Amino acid sequence: MAGVSGPALAAAVARAGGLGLLGAARYTEAQLRKEFGDAQQLAKGKGAVGIGLMAFTNTQLLATAIDLNPHTIWLSFGDVAPMAAQVKAAGIKLMIQVQSVEQAVRAVSLGADAIVAQGTESGGHGASPTGTFCFVPEVVDAVAGIAAETGAPPVPVLAAGGVADGRQVAAALALGASGAVLGTVLVATEESMFPAAWKERYVASSADDTARTVLFDALGPIEWPRGIDGRALRNRFTDANQEQLLGKASVHRCTFPDYILENSYCVKKQERADERERMQAELDSGRAEADPEVAPLWCGAGVGLIHSIPPAETLVRGIVADAAATVAKLHSLVES
Ligand SMILES: Cc1cc2nc3c(=O)[nH]c(=O)nc-3n(C[C@H](O)[C@H](O)[C@H](O)COP(=O)(O)O)c2cc1C
Repeated sequence: MAGVSGPALAAAVARAGGLGLLGAARYTEAQLRKEFGDAQQLAKGKGAVGIGLMAFTNTQLLATAIDLNPHTIWLSFGDVAPMAAQVKAAGIKLMIQVQSVEQAVRAVSLGADAIVAQGTESGGHGASPTGTFCFVPEVVDAVAGIAAETGAPPVPVLAAGGVADGRQVAAALALGASGAVLGTVLVATEESMFPAAWKERYVASSADDTARTVLFDALGPIEWPRGIDGRALRNRFTDANQEQLLGKASVHRCTFPDYILENSYCVKKQERADERERMQAELDSGRAEADPEVAPLWCGAGVGLIHSIPPAETLVRGIVADAAATVAKLHSLVES
């Protein structure tokens, strides 16, 4: 998770026995080298540390990531094929995050060692209109179908989107996933790089407080691939500027810089340039001041299950233990 997952968080997840990912999308090459080294040191040889990159912006950074020889390189957003080929050629494990069944099938053909099926509940950027509960088993079945045809073992599928406790990890396993990706729940940990006041907002929020939106990305600074939006906590900025747009499918079809959306219709940007400038200035200063009422606090729909800000290692160990207890409980229900 870019802006959240630095060496301390990635290493804490690794120490709990997981795969801790450095959210490296906005790193320079020097930063990536330094932070990956720090993460490995802090992980103390436990679990695994990987590097998360975005296909539409990180083509340059990939060579450095490969040179560092991490356990895994995670790719998402944009055309992952060229980067995937380089990761495979280097013999590094390849994880691809997908938002459609079609993308999952493609990920298998690209040699993914694991596929992350990201449902619409997920925090941060995404594109799936489908909830994790339906999306994950469909991806699992599609991948199993390919395996049955080729005779190769099925590529493991990991569930992402709204998973914040052990019950949900058990549910993901029941849906056929081989594991789960924790995102938002790790934002509210001691090691996450978000400001302390932001973390408190996650503790105080519920699913009702989140919404998918293109508002933040429509105002830059980078241009996201078509169809990508993001789930964030609603705040003064989203409510004031996009209340009528939240949740509407049509927002996908029109983005700045050419158009804005007004009352569900695309409007030429030139006609509303002043408005855009005002919003841009408010967002820029809100970001600079880390104002939670303006800046994007990317957040999944599982946020209502977050009640504290624990050390990440304790959190992950607890979630794994709760998942095992849930599976045992379900087993005893079936037996009785
Ligand atoms: C604050 C935040 C930052 C994220 N940054 C990235 C990123 O840089 N690259 C990426 O592929 N996914 C990113 N994601 C999405 C996660 O990979 C994952 O799909 C999501 O967090 C899972 O859903 P959850 O947040 O409900 O647990 C981010 C999510 C959050 C909450």
